Amino acid sequence: MPGMLFLSMLVVAAMTVVLLWRVGEVRGKVVTTGGKPVNGATVRVKATEFQAVTDSQGRFVLNGFPSRFGITITAWADGYYIRGTVARPWRREVTVSMDPYRTGDNPSYSWVPPKVEGRSAAENLLIRASLPIAAFLSFNKMFLPLSARFTLGCADCHGATIYGQYSSSAHARGTSNIKL
Ligand code: HEC
Repeated sequence: MPGMLFLSMLVVAAMTVVLLWRVGEVRGKVVTTGGKPVNGATVRVKATEFQAVTDSQGRFVLNGFPSRFGITITAWADGYYIRGTVARPWRREVTVSMDPYRTGDNPSYSWVPPKVEGRSAAENLLIRASLPIAAFLSFNKMFLPLSARFTLGCADCHGATIYGQYSSSAHARGTSNIKL
């Protein structure tokens, strides 16, 4: 069967590429979201001891690690969220951009009630049955737009078990529990 032979050759070729085409050194730059270099950021091969520190231009060179087809690197600097990227044989030079921690309040934060009062049992049932279905179909395309259409409480998304545990906890009953 020539078809099978062709397929096996394709698989062997793909495996050879992945086995032989490896990244042994990653170079790059760590910058802020505004494009400024980050000095002194720690860059490492994810979950290993192989690390480098960026210079004043935000540049780093990482090597000495066991080479692989894909190398996931992470970057960390004081005041920023950890960010990362994957270096590939065709992308050995990478740029990681860092987002600073939020230090102020979020002005668009809105209060989420534990439980929305005044809904009928049928409304509750409909809302709580449709959210998991929407999440199953697509979190971004279905769940988020649907959930934005209702006033939702913690109980609507987090289900009876989790909400039951939470609402009977000392935390939730902080204002009515005389022991606290
Ligand atoms: C619109 C739906 C929705 C509402 C309303 C909602 N949550 Fe969540 N919550 C989520 C989703 C989605 C996640 C992320 C779950 C994940 O990443 O696995 C989450 C995560 C969490 C987590 C982290 C759980 C973990 O394992 O890390 C906590 C704690 C939490 N929610 C508590 C609350 C509380 C308390 C409220 C009410 C004040 C609330 N949520 C309201 C949808 C919601």
